[in-house]
Amino acid sequence: MMGPGSATSLLLLLLLLLPRLLSALQVDFRRRDFPSDFVFGAGTSAVQYEGATAEDGRTPSVMDPEGKIGDEESDGYHKYKEDAKLMSDTGLDAYRFSISWSRILPYGRGTVNPKGVEYYNSVLHEITKRGIQPHVTLNHLDLPKVLEDEYGGWESPKIVDDFKEFANVCFSSFGDRVTRWTTMNEPNVHGMLYWRSCGNSTYTPTYNMVHNMLVSHSEVVRLYRTKYQKHQGGLIGLNSYSFWCQPFSNSSADVEATERAKNFMFGWLMNPLIFGDYPETMRKIAKSRLPSFTKSQAEVLKGSFDFIGLNYYTAAYVSDISNGSGNIHCFKADIAVDFRVERNDRPARGPFTIYRVPSDFSGLQKMIEYLMKTYGSHLFFIHENGFAADVNAGLSDTARIEYLKGYIRSMLEAIRSGAQIRGYFVWSFIDLFEFIGGYNTRFGLYHVDFDAEDRPRTPRLSAKWYSTFLKNNSTVMSPNIQRDHDLEDLPYSSQ
Ligand code: BGC
Repeated sequence: MMGPGSATSLLLLLLLLLPRLLSALQVDFRRRDFPSDFVFGAGTSAVQYEGATAEDGRTPSVMDPEGKIGDEESDGYHKYKEDAKLMSDTGLDAYRFSISWSRILPYGRGTVNPKGVEYYNSVLHEITKRGIQPHVTLNHLDLPKVLEDEYGGWESPKIVDDFKEFANVCFSSFGDRVTRWTTMNEPNVHGMLYWRSCGNSTYTPTYNMVHNMLVSHSEVVRLYRTKYQKHQGGLIGLNSYSFWCQPFSNSSADVEATERAKNFMFGWLMNPLIFGDYPETMRKIAKSRLPSFTKSQAEVLKGSFDFIGLNYYTAAYVSDISNGSGNIHCFKADIAVDFRVERNDRPARGPFTIYRVPSDFSGLQKMIEYLMKTYGSHLFFIHENGFAADVNAGLSDTARIEYLKGYIRSMLEAIRSGAQIRGYFVWSFIDLFEFIGGYNTRFGLYHVDFDAEDRPRTPRLSAKWYSTFLKNNSTVMSPNIQRDHDLEDLPYSSQ
């Protein structure tokens, strides 16, 4: 028999546990809260995944990790069958990957490498037979080196015809199975990688590169639409790096810098795609260093996408540094901002990846709402979203799970407020060679042992969590996604 003392203790215990019990019952979101045609997936890119950089006729790309660690990366060239099975076991609807240009066209143009075509046919066979939808990017930073050596790669308008030729081979070889094409990954970051020459020259490679990428993109879209889209029935779009920008302080300089940053980072791609020209702000600041589109190029550019793919990792605080660039001319001096991931960070050199779970996930929703408000309602895919961990972080990646939950929830809020988002891809499916960090930075749902010759894959906790979310439609309690720092709450003011 329970005495009155123990009954009281039990009651007290229940009262103490009540908030926890109630929150455990709270239904936050489930797989089935998303539209029925929404796809959940994960991604890799050719140069970070495949390895076999000199096998079966492939020639080097400008991004090969050559000389750094080795050339096997995650050995996807030999392990794609095993990986396709893992994708299916995980419950992925879709797989985002890219095609190595120099594997298909070892000279950049001309002779097609049958072994290269065969490899991607095999990859497509393995994933489509399991009902996984391929989302394919034509170029994910890995330009054939031969074209860079010949005419400077993206810096030259000569690239337009070569990119078109490569795209044509891909559409004709794989377009019967690939119905989601992205022309290129993050031209805005790709260009920034070349902001090296910050001097007083009037030539700024960054602007020229992105200009040639935009023209190449629009020509490839035109090719797809005139020759393939009708009978292949796919969609084609462009990918952009994105991060929600908020002012570091409430000073008018930081507020203005934040608008400038949005124009330079996102308007740089979006304005030409919608209006056929760069944002006014860019033109005013960069003047004649910003190339111009001819009338016919502008016409081809306008509307040259069926969807926009966004890579989103974190939000950033923006502060003005427009005083003091003097006679220096380059993208970096023109944008004249510092980015910080947290207020007390040192300025980040960007692009950002994140090593800690943010306290606030709503930046993704805000980013999409900003794009909708500024450029109208379009189809979106979240092409990359993922958490960087240290090489020693191990398999129990609970922080990554919190990160994914927070952003999936933020995306759902955007959908609920009217955004037409059609898919979400975790970056990355397995550990890859990272451009920043090599093999020391790990994004994978699956761990790869890069020291072992056969690169074994092991599921992390996040792979199991994602799988349960996708397959069991289980309820996900997400962390709070609410912003804690809208402009009016800013405690900081700049001096
Ligand atoms: C790139 C990926 C890269 C990731 C993490 C993205 O911007 O598209 O290729 O692995 O950042 O650094």
